Amino acid sequence: MLSVPPPTDPGLRPDYPIRTERLLLRPLALTDVEALLAYRSRPDVCRYVPFEPMDRQVITRRLANHWANTTLTDEGQSLTLGVELAGTGELVGDVILFWHSRLHRGGEIGYVLNPDYAGHGYATEAAKTMLRLGFEDLGLHRIVARIDERNDASARVARRLGMRQEARLVHNEFFKGEWSTELDFAMLAEEWQVRRTEGIDEVASARPRSAERGRAETVT
Ligand SMILES: CC(C)(COP(=O)(O)OP(=O)(O)OC[C@H]1O[C@@H](n2cnc3c(N)ncnc32)[C@H](O)[C@@H]1OP(=O)(O)O)[C@@H](O)C(=O)NCCC(=O)NCCS
Repeated sequence: MLSVPPPTDPGLRPDYPIRTERLLLRPLALTDVEALLAYRSRPDVCRYVPFEPMDRQVITRRLANHWANTTLTDEGQSLTLGVELAGTGELVGDVILFWHSRLHRGGEIGYVLNPDYAGHGYATEAAKTMLRLGFEDLGLHRIVARIDERNDASARVARRLGMRQEARLVHNEFFKGEWSTELDFAMLAEEWQVRRTEGIDEVASARPRSAERGRAETVT
């Protein structure tokens, strides 16, 4: 496998917005409260994530605290970015990159999408950008995703990204009133490099045959 050296000046300071094929990733702002409320207040969206449905006050507080972060300068920090449709400017979700350890160069990703915009590959496309930021710009060695076994859609995103399932931790957390079985997915920097070199596009490969019609509908 290829060896990826860490950058000499660890830290992540992206130029915003970050553009992908169909999306813009950018810091969240107070003007996003309504769009965030539209999905982060929903019990179905929060079913398998480590937070409860949020109200306006909680969202406003987060925007002033954790979500105000636009860089990663040390371990223990996280970067949350809004996922905006490039064609319409609508905020459709958010993604997060945690920097867990400077020594072990470890991180974690997470993603949340407004269900009205599910099924188009947006979460995968945005999460792929967080992997790129983590591996190529921050110099991480290993990035994980921890997923409730019942959260099939999320596990499919991780697999589509090329993350390997490494573990199945049976009933390891008492989560929201019941035991939860956790699936641990991971990717190494070397594996990321191989996918990049071989030009593997997980979003394109997930596209259904009617994708061209679907894509056009999302950007007009
Ligand atoms: C997890 C979550 C983000 C997945 O959302 P999603 O819409 O299924 O994921 P994507 O946006 O990547 O879309 C992928 C789907 O779109 C389909 N698709 C349609 N058009 C597509 C296109 N042009 N390109 C790529 N995929 C396309 C894919 O085939 C795939 O469908 P499948 O999973 O049924 O095979 C969403 O369910 C969610 O927000 N859940 C609540 C929060 C949560 O649990 N987060 C994860 C915590 S671990």
